[in-house]
Amino acid sequence: MKFFVDTADIAAITELNDLGMVDGVTTNPSIIAKSGRDILEVTKEICDLVSGPVSAEVVATDADDMIAEGRKLAKIADNIAVKVPLTWDGLKACNVLSSEGNMVNVTLCFSANQALLAAKAGATFISPFIGRLDDINLDGLELIEDIRTIYDNYGYDTQILAASIRNANHMSECAKIGADVATAPPNVIKAMANHVLTDNGLAAFLKDAAKANIKIV
Ligand code: E4P
Repeated sequence: MKFFVDTADIAAITELNDLGMVDGVTTNPSIIAKSGRDILEVTKEICDLVSGPVSAEVVATDADDMIAEGRKLAKIADNIAVKVPLTWDGLKACNVLSSEGNMVNVTLCFSANQALLAAKAGATFISPFIGRLDDINLDGLELIEDIRTIYDNYGYDTQILAASIRNANHMSECAKIGADVATAPPNVIKAMANHVLTDNGLAAFLKDAAKANIKIV
């Protein structure tokens, strides 16, 4: 499973990228607003840092304006994936932008039918939002499973980009289901390393090492 990092925080992207953990980056208007930076400038900086796809989201709502914004975003760098919302106009924009050779990430997906339409419209990525479904007592992971089944039934090559990931368990569950990509905030990716038995085991080993005066360098 590819790891995308869901942030515009350059320091956090750099730290994970230096470890080889970053296969791409996703942003959205809320993430860009939080960065306090100009969208074109911060997105360019991310694209220079990371070789994989960097999703940059349009803010228009009608197809023609989304297409114009998408074309401008795509000019930032070769690794831009233009992100459009899963509306009827978003699907029209996806169809045009992808036929022009751009990567397109269709976002705000909350149903299998929406995912089916995105694949038909030529999306490179579909972004089902797990956490926001869980927030309203629906099963976000079940949606990932349904989309996996549908895409495999018909051989769609649209990649399932599991989004709105809120905890480390979501990451392993997505990997078990066969999501192609999971995008998560840096703290969630780092939390995947945590286990209480690792902490306890290490504390015991270090105590014994100190008692026995074990020195290596
Ligand atoms: C993905 O592309 C979105 O930017 C993101 O995962 C949304 O996550 P949230 O529901 O935690 O805001």
